[in-house]
Amino acid sequence: MQKIDRRQFLGGALVATSALTLGFPRSSKAADSRIEVLVNEPIGTINPNIYGHFVEHLGAVVYDGIWVGENSRIPNIGGIRKELVDALKRIKAPLFRYPGGCFADSYDWRDGIGERSRRPKRTNFWYGVAGKDVALNSTSRIEPNHFGTNEFMRFCQLVGGKPYLAANLRGLPAQDFYEWIEYCNSPAGTTTLAEQRATGSMGSRDPFNVEFWGIGNESWGCGGELLPDEYAQEFRRFTAAYPPYDVPLKFIGAGASSDDLNWTRGFFSRMREKGEGLFGRRVYAWGIHHYAWNVSAGRTTDWNDGKGDALKFNTEQYFELLREADRLDAFLQQHWTIMGEYDRQHRTKIAVDEWGSWHRPGTELKPTHLLGQQNTMRDALVASLTLDIFNRNADKVVMGNVAQLVNCLHSLFLADGDKFILTPTFHVFEMFMAHSAAQSVRTVFSAPTVSYDRNGKPADFWGLQGSSSINGKQLTMTVTNPHQTDVRETEIAIRGARIVSAKARVLAEKDVHAYNSFENPKTVEPRDETVKINTETLVFRFAPASVTQLQITLA
Ligand code: AHR
Repeated sequence: MQKIDRRQFLGGALVATSALTLGFPRSSKAADSRIEVLVNEPIGTINPNIYGHFVEHLGAVVYDGIWVGENSRIPNIGGIRKELVDALKRIKAPLFRYPGGCFADSYDWRDGIGERSRRPKRTNFWYGVAGKDVALNSTSRIEPNHFGTNEFMRFCQLVGGKPYLAANLRGLPAQDFYEWIEYCNSPAGTTTLAEQRATGSMGSRDPFNVEFWGIGNESWGCGGELLPDEYAQEFRRFTAAYPPYDVPLKFIGAGASSDDLNWTRGFFSRMREKGEGLFGRRVYAWGIHHYAWNVSAGRTTDWNDGKGDALKFNTEQYFELLREADRLDAFLQQHWTIMGEYDRQHRTKIAVDEWGSWHRPGTELKPTHLLGQQNTMRDALVASLTLDIFNRNADKVVMGNVAQLVNCLHSLFLADGDKFILTPTFHVFEMFMAHSAAQSVRTVFSAPTVSYDRNGKPADFWGLQGSSSINGKQLTMTVTNPHQTDVRETEIAIRGARIVSAKARVLAEKDVHAYNSFENPKTVEPRDETVKINTETLVFRFAPASVTQLQITLA
């Protein structure tokens, strides 16, 4: 492969006319955009766990999104919704974070083990978010504990994904955390907790070998309203000693929300006082949360502060949501820079363990589906631009967990009784699968920016964005065109490699409000398209408001 001089490339990218002469010999006259893939500029291996998920005991995520019960007429595997398992296998879902979220810091794992019929009923953390029309004994208010550690592990095993458990830091002592590790990981026939694991409903003699452990959740907020130095102290205490078994544990810190750089600086500076060796070894990753909502929808004082409608949005709200999601790119860099001041070798990486669109209530399937919302093409674009951000930051980000799996915020699935559908976001995850474990390579996008009206003033948003990765001779590129009406005719040059063939899969709808429903489950679905190529360049027309996956075979 031929190596391109970085300065020569950048010069070309900045001066459009020279770029055409230098990099795009058979220029398409109609093209207004260019993508240049620098196959010799690797960023890092894309960790499969960045395509991970999040399962919280919240509304209808667990009951009846995942757990329908063994005696249900809904097809199930030992009580777990079969259609969900099948769909998750299709996308090779790698990882599930559980049991929260805010719920995690109020959860006693002992409530969810043993004989199911004897498990206690508890008040769910989200009790108060349920409206008047949600019955007092609804599973959205009262946690029946029918789905606990063993059921969650069974779910992970059925799908083939890894578990990531979040410890209760606010409500329980560190000893309970160690005993949860012992319950999950101590070898068969050794401890009393290993025996308990083997008995009761869904008992398992074999250890679960859980590798990923979150130390609390949003400890700056619902997880205890701690200050950064208080959290650093708690984190060290929780991870100072723990039961050691065959599986090396990876601890994830309850990191910052969006651009809260003070939380990151506070934690890292206080950890550093105990020595730089704590990074990596004791803090595998720093868990950042970033939700996108319509700031422009207006500020109120309630829980739905600033959030807009999932289905009814205008052009400004469409772009503002994409803009909010896109800010993550800069936030990652900012947190990373601060982390590097204390952990100079960057042994601690980033886990974006909650992300997605968050809209105001009103489109949930039922009142019991707390924080449930519909998922349109706009949300599919939020998903694609976010996953592309992860790919482009493959050297920093080791994990991502979209919030949340089913019947909740940015869900891949909606379910109610025997009805089950895939949302547009599911299709995005499927289109990104080929990036998993591939080498992310630097890719430069150049396209006319999109202009829109923002609160009466002109505003811009990028014209094309995406990421590329290489796995052997296979180059995968994912591209988002946010323009609602304009096709982006684009010349794509692969620097340092020859193209043999290419194919495309496109998720696009004329109306960005399009979504899937039980009545019309296939309104939004990807389709295959042909691609014109010559050996060095290919030309592709990116449809308006689309996500495209290009699979390019290199010589
Ligand atoms: O995903 C919903 C909630 O959002 C989570 O429980 C919490 O961690 C975050 O604030």
